[in-house]
Amino acid sequence: MNKSLKVTLLAALAVTLVACASTAVQLSTLREQSVSSADSAPDVKDYVGKRPGQHALIARSFPQQPPLVPHTVDGYGIAPGDNSCLDCHISDEFKGKKMPKMSDSHFLKASMAGAEPAVDMQRWQCDSCHVPQVDAKPLVDNDFKG
Ligand code: HEC
Ligand code: HEC
Repeated sequence: MNKSLKVTLLAALAVTLVACASTAVQLSTLREQSVSSADSAPDVKDYVGKRPGQHALIARSFPQQPPLVPHTVDGYGIAPGDNSCLDCHISDEFKGKKMPKMSDSHFLKASMAGAEPAVDMQRWQCDSCHVPQVDAKPLVDNDFKG
């Protein structure tokens, strides 16, 4: 490489560096604290609801909304072969009182006349649609009106 080419390349590099430095923007963080400060996870809050069987249903905000869970879900696990939500929601009665049974949309059509309809496995993970409630400040403002 001849000398004048080297000088030209160095000059170009210097101009680029100066240009970058002058346009560098101050990075800001979405977490409203310095990126290097320790993350402060929000406190774990208790569910507003207590044991099932003593709550009013929460009004739905729009048609086809998966209803919100008014009771606690502590202790009600969902595993591949065992879904404790079904212990109750497979029926429309709980301790002799009327309760919301899962909709027909959650069952497959019975394959034979007289057979019990099976739970549609696409509905197995109840809490991907039905969420329990805690008393927490919303993370972002929301002015949605149902
Ligand atoms: C011990 C019985 C029981 C278990 C277990 C249970 N529920 Fe419930 N659930 C109820 C009763 C009873 C209600 C009616 C409200 C009340 O009284 O708490 C209800 C209400 C609901 C509602 C509101 C329905 C509507 O139409 O508004 C949803 C959604 C729900 N439960 C989802 C779940 C999910 C998800 C699970 C598992 C994590 C679960 N439930 C476990 C008994 C139960
Ligand atoms: C893919 C989303 C989804 C999943 C998963 C799901 N649901 Fe639902 N659920 C809904 C929607 C949407 C509605 C309201 C429309 C309807 O009734 O089909 C509903 C309605 C209900 C209702 C109210 C029925 C009524 O007539 O008022 C209950 C109770 C319920 N679901 C329980 C459950 C339980 C228990 C599970 C897990 C075994 C479950 N759901 C899984 C979306 C879901």
